[in-house]
Amino acid sequence: MPTSPPIKAARGVRDILPAERAGYAVVERAAQEVARRFGYQEVELPIIEPVELIERGLGSDSDAGGKELYRLEPHGDSDGDAPARLVLRPEGTAGMVRAYFQGGLNQGPQPVRLFTLGPMFRHDKPQHLRYRQFYQFDVEVIGDPSPAYDVEVIELTWGWIEGMGIGHVSLELNSIGDFNCRPQYLRLLQDYYRPLKDRLHSDCQRRLEQNPLRLLDCKDEQCQPFKAAAPRITDHLCTACAAAFEKVKSLLDAAGLEYRLNPYLVRGLDYYTRTVFELQHQSLGGAQNSLGGGGRYDALAAALGFPDTPGVGFAGGIDRVAYMLQHELGSIKAAPAAHVLVLPMTEDLEQAAAQVGRVCRSAAPTAVDYSARSLRAKMRAADRSGARWAVIMNSEEADRRVAQLRDLLSGDQREVAWDALPSAITKGGGED
Ligand code: HAM
Repeated sequence: MPTSPPIKAARGVRDILPAERAGYAVVERAAQEVARRFGYQEVELPIIEPVELIERGLGSDSDAGGKELYRLEPHGDSDGDAPARLVLRPEGTAGMVRAYFQGGLNQGPQPVRLFTLGPMFRHDKPQHLRYRQFYQFDVEVIGDPSPAYDVEVIELTWGWIEGMGIGHVSLELNSIGDFNCRPQYLRLLQDYYRPLKDRLHSDCQRRLEQNPLRLLDCKDEQCQPFKAAAPRITDHLCTACAAAFEKVKSLLDAAGLEYRLNPYLVRGLDYYTRTVFELQHQSLGGAQNSLGGGGRYDALAAALGFPDTPGVGFAGGIDRVAYMLQHELGSIKAAPAAHVLVLPMTEDLEQAAAQVGRVCRSAAPTAVDYSARSLRAKMRAADRSGARWAVIMNSEEADRRVAQLRDLLSGDQREVAWDALPSAITKGGGED
């Protein structure tokens, strides 16, 4: 008898079970294919990173790099080094830039095009499509400042979403300048908002002094009326940033990619300079409508202590994209656990059934039912499993190395020699 309540998953994280995993697999395969088509190479990076990498990269004032960070208890090593302060990565860009330098990729031909797929962790308020462990498709081009790479990344990500047939997505575009022109603009923004301070909601009152750019992407009702008259950063870009933004727009036009200029798009991470963009889905609610986003981060490498090196990239939310695929197109069915089920009628047939299982696996995914249930119960389970074939075995037939092959679709059944099972399964409709 259980003595304590059953243990459940931690709040805000979820199991992705077979019915849903099939959709994730489609999204991941599409990501790998589009990235390879554009000449990007796949990497795997650690899920744990030093806290400084994230705090200095994303900014400890940002949500993802500050209050939402999962900090690990420091563990010392036997060599007496001070215990490392580690976190679960909240995103992939800072780690990718670290790996680029640490692995010497900065020494080879530039730029370097990389991508990765994997879990990220943010201690955010759990909501629909906002999880504490979620999955990203992360794409980065490191080592060249040309705006043409901004557009390449946008074209790649658009191709990913469009290639899966997901519609109702808008490409939102903005430039947030760089460290030459942004400080002056932020002062203008503060001058505009200061007289309104008492009418802003509490988070925005704090942002006004600490991170004024974030005033622009506040979703709170109370703050909306003031946005329209706020100064726009695109009216205050320095010459170099303005020229880069013009180039991005003209290359997007030439690529036939439609975009919406969105002066309120500022993104939540501190490392961005110049181009920022997001793919927003029109049917997803407010804060969860972003299927992915990215931008240029020319000052990130230096902030992490590496030589000044430009970069641009994007991360797509796999959970959200898989959700859209399943709920909008409803097209993805989980594959049956096995296509062939081997059903020994008695327990003494274990070894023979295992052997028949091995033979059938050369033709189709095969599982053996070793349970002590009756054949009737095994057949019922086989019918419900979605398998196409049952291989029914009794001792007398096993001695002759034959079995009954039953087509679970038509109900037809016939005796087949073990060695002939793969071809019978394949001919009769092997794997779908
Ligand atoms: P981000 O906007 O923080 O950017 O995240 C990118 C995408 O990850 C979001 O658009 C969303 O689809 C998904 N996402 C973020 N948080 C959650 C969550 N809690 N639950 C489910 N999905 C989520 C970045 O992470 C940057 N590193 C992107 C980038 C790459 N910029 C340059 N290079």
